Amino acid sequence: MKGVILAGGKGTRLYPLTKITNKHLLPVYDKPMIHYPIQTLVDAGIRDILIVTGGGYAGDFLQLLGNGRQFGLTGLNYTYQEGESGIADALSLAEHFADGQKICVILGDNIIERGIEDAVNDFRKQASGARILLKEVHDPERFGVAEVLHGHVVNIEEKPRSPKTNYAVTGIYMYDATVFDKVKSLEPSARGELEITDVNNAYIREGNLTFSFLEGWWTDAGTFDSLLRASNLVAQSQPKSE
Ligand code: G1P
Repeated sequence: MKGVILAGGKGTRLYPLTKITNKHLLPVYDKPMIHYPIQTLVDAGIRDILIVTGGGYAGDFLQLLGNGRQFGLTGLNYTYQEGESGIADALSLAEHFADGQKICVILGDNIIERGIEDAVNDFRKQASGARILLKEVHDPERFGVAEVLHGHVVNIEEKPRSPKTNYAVTGIYMYDATVFDKVKSLEPSARGELEITDVNNAYIREGNLTFSFLEGWWTDAGTFDSLLRASNLVAQSQPKSE
């Protein structure tokens, strides 16, 4: 399985921090944000990784990460999203890289306490379709929210005003190669973006989306509060020196 990290966008919710850099290069405790999703993929045994970025600071990713040697990698792949047409649009740039294989996609601002190895291994065994990771949260209206019935996700609503459950769809998604055709059939949402939630709903309609719950804490880091929370959670998880 190959890995795709989506690290574009303008990061407007973090302005002016993002006026002179890309959100994913901002610090989360003692590391740049982008380090965390790379480590998550590497820890799950995924070593062929594409970073999709955009905006004015794309060159800084190369300077920071190079060929990924600090993660034990011998190479990293990069591509560039022109414009701001959403997560699913950024994902469409990975079609050539994926080359017909399954992919594990992670949003560059999603930081987790533990690993995703079990979910990745389960998806390796899944013949086709998609797999998502859910997390129970107290503020589901900030996320894609999954409705679960009889052990199946039956619908996902993007940032609903009245969420049907507390199950947030985390920014970690596993897809088979049909994902790119699904992206091509999407129409922009009310916010003018191609939504990843619409991709996931397409798999649900096919009856081909599985899920599990993520263990340990999970946070995004795209707002001032969640960025602070991410730093605090990472700091608290560091092994204490004597
Ligand atoms: C995106 C997705 C949302 C998901 C979230 C996870 O939201 O659209 O479904 O729950 O990432 O971080 P965004 O951060 O773009 O608002």
